[in-house]
Amino acid sequence: MQKIHAAITGVGGYVPDYILTNAELETMMDTSDEWIRTRTGISERRILKGADMGTSEMAVGAIKDLICKTGVDPLSIELVICATTTPDMQFPATANIICDKAGLKNAWGYDVSAACSGFIFALTTGAQFIESGRHKKVLVIGGDKMSSIMNYEDRATSIIFGDGAGCVLLEPDTDGFGVIDAVLKSDGSGRAYLHQKAGGSMRPATVETVMAKEHFVYQEGQTVFKFAVKNMADVAADIMERNQLAADDITWLIPHQANKRIIDATRERMGLNPEKVMVNIEKFGNTTNGTLPLCMWQWEPQLRKGDNIVLAAFGGGFTWGSIYIRWAYDGNRK
Ligand code: UT7
Repeated sequence: MQKIHAAITGVGGYVPDYILTNAELETMMDTSDEWIRTRTGISERRILKGADMGTSEMAVGAIKDLICKTGVDPLSIELVICATTTPDMQFPATANIICDKAGLKNAWGYDVSAACSGFIFALTTGAQFIESGRHKKVLVIGGDKMSSIMNYEDRATSIIFGDGAGCVLLEPDTDGFGVIDAVLKSDGSGRAYLHQKAGGSMRPATVETVMAKEHFVYQEGQTVFKFAVKNMADVAADIMERNQLAADDITWLIPHQANKRIIDATRERMGLNPEKVMVNIEKFGNTTNGTLPLCMWQWEPQLRKGDNIVLAAFGGGFTWGSIYIRWAYDGNRK
C-alpha cells in the first residue's frame, strides 16, 4: 500500500488593514526608521484595531479566504489546530472559537502553544491525523495578535512584532506530495530569555503585575538572536541531510520572519540564492505563528506541483524546527 502523506491543498491568509510604519514608531519611542530597517529588515507591520477583536478574528478571515479559493465545504472540515501565542482567552481554546465563528460545525479543535515555532509544530501534528487515516480534512492555522502583548515603551522588542494569520488545508495524498519529514526541537531552559512573566498559573494577574508591565513580551534580544541564528540554520541543514537534498534540489525556503539577519544566516548555511527565499518581513514584521502560512499565502501563485519546500522556525521556549514539503498543486487555487 502507498504511504499516505498530508498534502497542503489550499492556503488562506489575513492581515489587518492598519499599517504601523517605522515613521509612526518614531513618534512613539526613541527609535529611527534607519535603525529598524538595518537591524531587522522591517519597514511596517499590521495592527488589528477595534474592541473585542482577537486572534480568532484574523483566523476566520484567513479561513474565509481559503474556502473562497478552494471551494471546500466548511462542514467537511474534521479537525482545526490553531497555533497561537495570543489566544482570544485563557480558555476555551481559540480553535473552538474559530470553529464557531467560521461555521465549521463538524470539526473538533485545539490550540498548540510553541511561540514562533507553533505553526510547524501544529502542521506536523495535523499531518499525523491525515497519515494515520483518522481524518481526511484538517485545517492548520497560525496567527497572532502580537500587539495585544507588546509594550510600546520597549523599543528593542516592540518594533519587530505585528499581527496576522494564515491557514492551510491538509488532505491525504498517495503520490508522494505533502509533508515528507520534520525535525522538531525544544529546550525549556531558553524560557529565561523570551517569555511573558505574568498571567499564567505561576504568576496570576494582580494589580501589581499589571503595574509592573509583566503581561507584555519580555525578550533578551541579543541572546535570542544568537540561539536563533545557530539553531534555525542547524535544523534546516539537518532536514536537508536527512532527505539527501542539495541546495539545487530546494525550490523554496520559507523561514520564520523574526529578523532579516537570521533569515540570511539560515539561507547562507543552506547554500541558497536569495531568490529562493520567501521574505515579507519588510511589510508584516514578525507575526509569530502567522509568518510561515502568510508566506505561503503570498507566494502561492508562484508555487508549482513538485516544488521542494523547506520551512524553518525558531521561537520562545526555546522551540525550533524544520519541515520538508513536496508541494501538491500549481499556482493559486481559484
Ligand atoms: O521570533 C522569535 C524569536 N525572536 C527573535 O528571533 C528576535 C531575535 N533578536 C533580534 O532580532 C534582535 O536582537 C533585536 C532586533 C530584537 C534587537 O537588535 P540588536 O541588534 O540585538 O540590538 P540590542 O538589543 O543589542 O541593542 C543594541 C543597541 C543598544 O544601544 P547601546 O546600548 O549599544 O547604546 C540599544 O539600546 O541598539 C539600541 N536599540 C535601539 N536603538 C534604536 C535597541 N532597540 C532600538 C531601537 N531603536 N528600536
